Amino acid sequence: MMLTIARPDDWHLHLRDGAMLEAVLPYTAAHFGRALAMPNLVPPVTTAALAAAYRQRILDAGAGDFEPVLAGYLTNRTDPDDVAAGFRDGAWRAMKLYPAKATTNSDHGVTDIDSIRPVFERMAEIGMPLCVHGEVTSDDVDIFDREAVFLDTVLTPVREALPSLKIIVEHATTRQSVEFVEAYANTWASLTPHHLWWNRNAIFAGGLRPHAYCLPVLKREEHRKALVRAAISGDAKFFAGTDSAPHPVHRKESDCGCAGVFCAPTALSTYAEVFEREGALERLETFTSFHGADCYGVPRPTETVTLVKEAWTPPETITAGEHPVRVFRGGESVAWRVEA
Ligand code: DOR
Ligand code: ZN
Repeated sequence: MMLTIARPDDWHLHLRDGAMLEAVLPYTAAHFGRALAMPNLVPPVTTAALAAAYRQRILDAGAGDFEPVLAGYLTNRTDPDDVAAGFRDGAWRAMKLYPAKATTNSDHGVTDIDSIRPVFERMAEIGMPLCVHGEVTSDDVDIFDREAVFLDTVLTPVREALPSLKIIVEHATTRQSVEFVEAYANTWASLTPHHLWWNRNAIFAGGLRPHAYCLPVLKREEHRKALVRAAISGDAKFFAGTDSAPHPVHRKESDCGCAGVFCAPTALSTYAEVFEREGALERLETFTSFHGADCYGVPRPTETVTLVKEAWTPPETITAGEHPVRVFRGGESVAWRVEA
Protein backbone atom coordinates (compact mmCIF):
# COMPACT_ATOMS: atom_id res chain seq x y z
CA MET A 1 0.00 0.00 0.00
CA MET A 2 1.22 3.51 -0.86
CA LEU A 3 -0.01 6.89 0.20
CA THR A 4 1.06 10.19 -1.38
CA ILE A 5 0.27 13.33 0.59
CA ALA A 6 1.19 17.00 0.49
CA ARG A 7 4.58 17.46 2.12
CA PRO A 8 3.99 17.80 5.89
CA ASP A 9 5.09 20.70 8.07
CA ASP A 10 6.29 20.26 11.64
CA TRP A 11 4.80 23.08 13.69
CA HIS A 12 6.86 22.37 16.81
CA LEU A 13 10.49 21.32 16.57
CA HIS A 14 13.69 21.59 18.61
CA LEU A 15 16.61 21.89 16.22
CA ARG A 16 19.20 23.10 18.80
CA ASP A 17 22.45 24.56 17.50
CA GLY A 18 25.98 23.59 16.42
CA ALA A 19 26.79 19.88 16.09
CA MET A 20 23.34 18.81 17.30
CA LEU A 21 21.64 21.02 14.69
CA GLU A 22 23.78 19.51 11.95
CA ALA A 23 23.03 15.98 13.12
CA VAL A 24 19.26 16.25 13.51
CA LEU A 25 18.23 18.68 10.77
CA PRO A 26 18.51 16.16 7.88
CA TYR A 27 15.93 13.88 9.53
CA THR A 28 13.34 16.62 9.62
CA ALA A 29 14.23 18.03 6.20
CA ALA A 30 13.84 14.56 4.66
CA HIS A 31 10.13 14.43 5.53
CA PHE A 32 8.92 17.95 6.29
CA GLY A 33 8.88 21.07 4.13
CA ARG A 34 8.79 23.62 6.94
CA ALA A 35 9.14 23.55 10.70
CA LEU A 36 8.57 25.99 13.52
CA ALA A 37 11.96 26.06 15.27
CA MET A 38 11.64 26.43 19.03
CA PRO A 39 13.62 29.24 20.67
CA ASN A 40 14.79 27.54 23.90
CA LEU A 41 18.47 27.75 23.00
CA VAL A 42 21.19 28.80 25.42
CA PRO A 43 20.86 31.79 25.46
CA PRO A 44 17.23 31.83 24.25
CA VAL A 45 16.00 33.52 21.06
CA THR A 46 14.47 36.56 22.74
CA THR A 47 14.81 39.25 20.06
CA ALA A 48 13.99 39.51 16.36
CA ALA A 49 17.71 39.97 15.63
CA LEU A 50 18.57 36.72 17.44
CA ALA A 51 15.78 34.98 15.52
CA ALA A 52 17.08 36.20 12.16
CA ALA A 53 20.60 34.99 13.10
CA TYR A 54 19.32 31.56 14.23
CA ARG A 55 17.27 31.22 11.06
CA GLN A 56 20.45 31.82 9.06
CA ARG A 57 22.38 29.20 11.08
CA ILE A 58 19.66 26.67 10.29
CA LEU A 59 19.83 27.53 6.59
CA ASP A 60 23.65 27.32 6.72
CA ALA A 61 23.38 23.83 8.21
CA GLY A 62 22.32 22.87 4.70
CA ALA A 63 18.84 21.47 4.47
CA GLY A 64 18.04 21.85 0.77
CA ASP A 65 14.67 23.47 0.25
CA PHE A 66 13.58 22.99 3.87
CA GLU A 67 12.22 26.24 5.30
CA PRO A 68 12.71 27.09 8.97
CA VAL A 69 10.04 29.27 10.55
CA LEU A 70 11.03 30.90 13.81
CA ALA A 71 9.27 31.32 17.13
CA GLY A 72 10.51 33.92 19.60
CA TYR A 73 10.97 33.36 23.33
CA LEU A 74 8.83 35.55 25.57
CA THR A 75 10.29 36.94 28.78
CA ASN A 76 8.92 39.38 31.34
CA ARG A 77 10.72 42.11 29.41
CA THR A 78 9.78 41.35 25.79
CA ASP A 79 9.32 44.55 23.81
CA PRO A 80 6.04 44.68 21.83
CA ASP A 81 7.65 46.86 19.15
CA ASP A 82 10.44 44.33 18.57
CA VAL A 83 7.84 41.54 18.36
CA ALA A 84 5.84 43.44 15.74
CA ALA A 85 8.89 44.52 13.73
CA GLY A 86 10.22 40.94 13.63
CA PHE A 87 6.81 39.67 12.52
CA ARG A 88 6.61 42.28 9.77
CA ASP A 89 10.13 41.46 8.53
CA GLY A 90 9.65 37.69 8.69
CA ALA A 91 12.34 37.14 11.35
CA TRP A 92 9.77 35.25 13.39
CA ARG A 93 6.17 34.15 12.91
CA ALA A 94 5.02 33.29 16.41
CA MET A 95 5.97 33.89 20.03
CA LYS A 96 6.39 31.09 22.54
CA LEU A 97 5.26 31.33 26.13
CA TYR A 98 7.35 29.19 28.47
CA PRO A 99 6.26 29.56 32.06
CA ALA A 100 9.62 29.97 33.86
CA LYS A 101 11.12 26.60 34.83
CA ALA A 102 8.41 24.58 33.10
CA THR A 103 10.88 22.70 30.91
CA THR A 104 14.32 22.55 29.23
CA ASN A 105 15.98 26.00 29.09
CA SER A 106 12.92 27.85 30.31
CA ASP A 107 14.68 29.67 33.15
CA HIS A 108 14.27 32.98 31.36
CA GLY A 109 10.59 32.34 30.73
CA VAL A 110 7.67 34.36 31.94
CA THR A 111 7.09 34.56 35.69
CA ASP A 112 4.38 37.19 35.58
CA ILE A 113 1.80 36.74 32.85
CA ASP A 114 0.28 40.15 33.52
CA SER A 115 3.60 41.85 32.77
CA ILE A 116 3.40 40.76 29.13
CA ARG A 117 -0.23 41.66 28.51
CA PRO A 118 0.87 44.54 26.20
CA VAL A 119 2.76 42.01 24.07
CA PHE A 120 -0.32 39.80 23.80
CA GLU A 121 -2.43 42.80 22.85
CA ARG A 122 -0.01 43.76 20.09
CA MET A 123 0.11 40.18 18.83
CA ALA A 124 -3.69 40.07 18.69
CA GLU A 125 -3.67 43.31 16.69
CA ILE A 126 -1.19 42.07 14.08
CA GLY A 127 -2.49 38.48 13.91
CA MET A 128 0.65 36.88 15.34
CA PRO A 129 0.10 33.47 16.97
CA LEU A 130 0.97 32.74 20.60
CA CYS A 131 2.40 29.25 21.16
CA VAL A 132 1.96 28.07 24.71
CA HIS A 133 3.77 25.52 26.83
CA GLY A 134 0.73 24.97 29.00
CA GLU A 135 1.90 23.83 32.41
CA VAL A 136 1.97 25.47 35.81
CA THR A 137 5.30 25.02 37.55
CA SER A 138 4.34 24.94 41.20
CA ASP A 139 5.52 21.97 43.25
CA ASP A 140 2.15 22.00 44.97
CA VAL A 141 0.46 20.81 41.79
CA ASP A 142 0.82 17.14 40.87
CA ILE A 143 2.93 16.84 37.72
CA PHE A 144 0.16 14.94 35.92
CA ASP A 145 -2.30 17.79 36.61
CA ARG A 146 -0.10 20.71 35.62
CA GLU A 147 -1.54 21.10 32.13
CA ALA A 148 -5.18 21.04 33.23
CA VAL A 149 -4.50 23.48 36.07
CA PHE A 150 -2.67 25.82 33.68
CA LEU A 151 -5.70 25.91 31.39
CA ASP A 152 -7.99 26.85 34.25
CA THR A 153 -5.81 29.30 36.13
CA VAL A 154 -3.60 30.92 33.49
CA LEU A 155 -4.81 30.39 29.94
CA THR A 156 -8.56 30.78 30.35
CA PRO A 157 -8.25 34.38 31.62
CA VAL A 158 -5.93 35.28 28.70
CA ARG A 159 -8.22 33.49 26.25
CA GLU A 160 -11.30 35.33 27.47
CA ALA A 161 -9.61 38.74 27.72
CA LEU A 162 -8.26 38.63 24.15
CA PRO A 163 -10.64 36.63 21.97
CA SER A 164 -8.88 37.63 18.75
CA LEU A 165 -5.42 36.42 19.87
CA LYS A 166 -4.45 33.23 18.04
CA ILE A 167 -3.48 30.70 20.70
CA ILE A 168 -1.86 27.34 20.06
CA VAL A 169 -1.79 24.85 22.92
CA GLU A 170 1.51 23.20 22.09
CA HIS A 171 1.99 19.44 22.48
CA ALA A 172 -1.45 18.93 24.05
CA THR A 173 -1.45 15.91 26.37
CA THR A 174 -4.86 15.84 28.03
CA ARG A 175 -8.55 15.52 27.34
CA GLN A 176 -8.94 18.91 29.02
CA SER A 177 -6.74 20.54 26.40
CA VAL A 178 -8.74 18.97 23.59
CA GLU A 179 -11.94 20.29 25.14
CA PHE A 180 -10.40 23.74 25.69
CA VAL A 181 -9.39 23.97 22.04
CA GLU A 182 -12.81 22.80 20.89
CA ALA A 183 -14.58 25.31 23.13
CA TYR A 184 -12.88 28.52 21.99
CA ALA A 185 -12.50 30.24 18.63
CA ASN A 186 -8.97 31.19 17.51
CA THR A 187 -7.58 28.27 19.49
CA TRP A 188 -5.57 25.32 18.14
CA ALA A 189 -3.43 22.47 19.43
CA SER A 190 -0.40 20.69 18.06
CA LEU A 191 -0.10 16.97 18.76
CA THR A 192 3.11 14.94 18.99
CA PRO A 193 3.67 11.41 17.72
CA HIS A 194 4.84 10.21 21.13
CA HIS A 195 1.81 11.52 23.01
CA LEU A 196 -0.41 9.82 20.41
CA TRP A 197 1.60 6.59 20.69
CA TRP A 198 2.45 6.16 24.38
CA ASN A 199 0.55 6.55 27.60
CA ARG A 200 2.33 7.08 30.92
CA ASN A 201 2.92 3.37 31.44
CA ALA A 202 5.73 3.73 28.89
CA ILE A 203 7.79 5.62 31.49
CA PHE A 204 7.74 2.59 33.79
CA ALA A 205 7.52 -0.37 31.38
CA GLY A 206 9.57 -3.08 33.13
CA GLY A 207 11.78 -0.43 34.75
CA LEU A 208 12.44 3.28 34.60
CA ARG A 209 12.56 4.47 30.97
CA PRO A 210 14.27 7.85 30.73
CA HIS A 211 13.80 7.97 26.96
CA ALA A 212 10.03 8.13 27.44
CA TYR A 213 10.37 11.16 29.70
CA CYS A 214 9.20 14.38 28.09
CA LEU A 215 7.27 17.47 29.14
CA PRO A 216 4.41 17.72 29.47
CA VAL A 217 4.83 14.23 30.88
CA LEU A 218 2.89 11.35 29.27
CA LYS A 219 -0.61 10.94 30.68
CA ARG A 220 -3.17 8.16 31.26
CA GLU A 221 -4.59 6.09 28.40
CA GLU A 222 -7.88 8.01 28.65
CA HIS A 223 -5.99 11.17 27.64
CA ARG A 224 -4.03 9.50 24.85
CA LYS A 225 -7.35 8.33 23.40
CA ALA A 226 -8.73 11.87 23.53
CA LEU A 227 -5.68 13.11 21.62
CA VAL A 228 -6.07 10.40 18.99
CA ARG A 229 -9.74 11.25 18.58
CA ALA A 230 -8.85 14.92 18.07
CA ALA A 231 -6.06 14.14 15.59
CA ILE A 232 -8.18 11.90 13.37
CA SER A 233 -11.34 14.00 13.66
CA GLY A 234 -10.63 16.19 10.64
CA ASP A 235 -11.14 19.22 12.89
CA ALA A 236 -8.86 21.99 11.54
CA LYS A 237 -7.94 23.03 15.08
CA PHE A 238 -5.59 20.07 15.49
CA PHE A 239 -2.35 19.60 13.57
CA ALA A 240 1.06 17.97 13.64
CA GLY A 241 3.89 19.37 15.75
CA THR A 242 6.39 16.69 16.63
CA ASP A 243 8.20 18.32 19.57
CA SER A 244 11.20 16.30 18.44
CA ALA A 245 13.66 17.22 21.21
CA PRO A 246 17.10 15.61 20.99
CA HIS A 247 19.35 15.19 24.02
CA PRO A 248 22.56 13.15 24.18
CA VAL A 249 21.91 9.73 25.75
CA HIS A 250 24.10 10.50 28.78
CA ARG A 251 21.98 13.55 29.61
CA LYS A 252 18.83 11.41 29.61
CA GLU A 253 20.25 8.36 31.40
CA SER A 254 21.29 10.38 34.39
CA ASP A 255 20.54 11.13 38.03
CA CYS A 256 18.44 14.05 36.79
CA GLY A 257 17.59 13.25 33.19
CA CYS A 258 16.53 15.78 30.57
CA ALA A 259 12.99 15.84 29.18
CA GLY A 260 12.58 15.25 25.46
CA VAL A 261 11.96 12.60 22.83
CA PHE A 262 13.90 12.69 19.57
CA CYS A 263 11.19 11.60 17.16
CA ALA A 264 12.08 13.34 13.89
CA PRO A 265 13.13 10.12 12.06
CA THR A 266 9.91 8.25 12.91
CA ALA A 267 7.37 11.02 13.46
CA LEU A 268 5.62 10.88 10.10
CA SER A 269 5.61 7.06 10.09
CA THR A 270 4.08 7.08 13.56
CA TYR A 271 1.36 9.57 12.65
CA ALA A 272 0.49 7.30 9.70
CA GLU A 273 0.39 4.22 11.91
CA VAL A 274 -1.89 5.94 14.43
CA PHE A 275 -4.27 7.10 11.69
CA GLU A 276 -4.25 3.69 10.02
CA ARG A 277 -5.09 1.88 13.26
CA GLU A 278 -8.14 4.12 13.57
CA GLY A 279 -9.17 3.62 9.96
CA ALA A 280 -8.59 7.32 9.29
CA LEU A 281 -5.72 7.36 6.78
CA GLU A 282 -7.74 9.55 4.42
CA ARG A 283 -7.55 12.33 7.03
CA LEU A 284 -3.78 12.07 7.63
CA GLU A 285 -2.91 14.72 5.04
CA THR A 286 -5.07 17.50 6.42
CA PHE A 287 -3.59 16.89 9.88
CA THR A 288 0.06 16.77 8.79
CA SER A 289 0.03 19.22 5.90
CA PHE A 290 -2.91 21.67 5.81
CA HIS A 291 -4.34 22.57 9.23
CA GLY A 292 -1.07 23.99 10.56
CA ALA A 293 -0.36 26.04 7.44
CA ASP A 294 -3.88 27.47 7.62
CA CYS A 295 -3.45 28.35 11.30
CA TYR A 296 -0.10 30.09 10.70
CA GLY A 297 -1.40 31.82 7.57
CA VAL A 298 1.18 30.39 5.16
CA PRO A 299 0.40 28.75 1.81
CA ARG A 300 -0.44 25.07 1.88
CA PRO A 301 2.44 22.91 0.64
CA THR A 302 2.64 22.08 -3.03
CA GLU A 303 5.27 19.30 -2.94
CA THR A 304 4.38 15.75 -1.91
CA VAL A 305 5.85 12.82 0.01
CA THR A 306 4.98 9.16 -0.39
CA LEU A 307 4.50 6.72 2.47
CA VAL A 308 4.80 2.99 1.87
CA LYS A 309 3.26 0.35 4.12
CA GLU A 310 6.46 -1.62 4.61
CA ALA A 311 7.86 -2.57 8.01
CA TRP A 312 11.33 -1.24 8.85
CA THR A 313 13.46 -0.96 11.94
CA PRO A 314 14.83 2.51 12.69
CA PRO A 315 18.29 2.69 14.30
CA GLU A 316 18.31 2.80 18.10
CA THR A 317 20.51 5.88 18.04
CA ILE A 318 22.00 8.48 15.75
CA THR A 319 25.24 10.34 16.47
CA ALA A 320 25.49 14.06 17.14
CA GLY A 321 29.08 15.23 17.41
CA GLU A 322 30.53 12.53 19.69
CA HIS A 323 27.28 11.62 21.37
CA PRO A 324 24.54 9.11 20.64
CA VAL A 325 20.93 10.35 20.65
CA ARG A 326 18.16 7.82 21.18
CA VAL A 327 15.55 7.62 18.39
CA PHE A 328 11.83 7.33 19.24
CA ARG A 329 10.81 3.74 18.37
CA GLY A 330 14.41 2.95 17.40
CA GLY A 331 15.01 -0.80 17.25
CA GLU A 332 11.26 -1.53 16.99
CA SER A 333 9.27 -2.50 13.95
CA VAL A 334 7.61 0.55 12.37
CA ALA A 335 4.81 -0.13 9.89
CA TRP A 336 5.15 2.80 7.48
CA ARG A 337 8.28 3.98 5.68
CA VAL A 338 8.68 7.38 4.04
CA GLU A 339 9.97 6.98 0.52
CA ALA A 340 13.25 8.80 -0.14
O1 DOR B 1 10.12 17.20 26.50
C1 DOR B 1 10.39 18.35 26.20
N1 DOR B 1 11.60 18.67 25.69
N2 DOR B 1 9.48 19.29 26.41
C2 DOR B 1 9.77 20.58 26.24
O2 DOR B 1 8.91 21.39 26.47
C3 DOR B 1 11.13 21.02 25.86
C4 DOR B 1 11.84 19.97 25.15
C5 DOR B 1 13.32 20.24 25.02
O3 DOR B 1 13.69 21.34 24.64
O4 DOR B 1 14.11 19.31 25.26
ZN1 ZN C 1 8.95 21.56 22.67
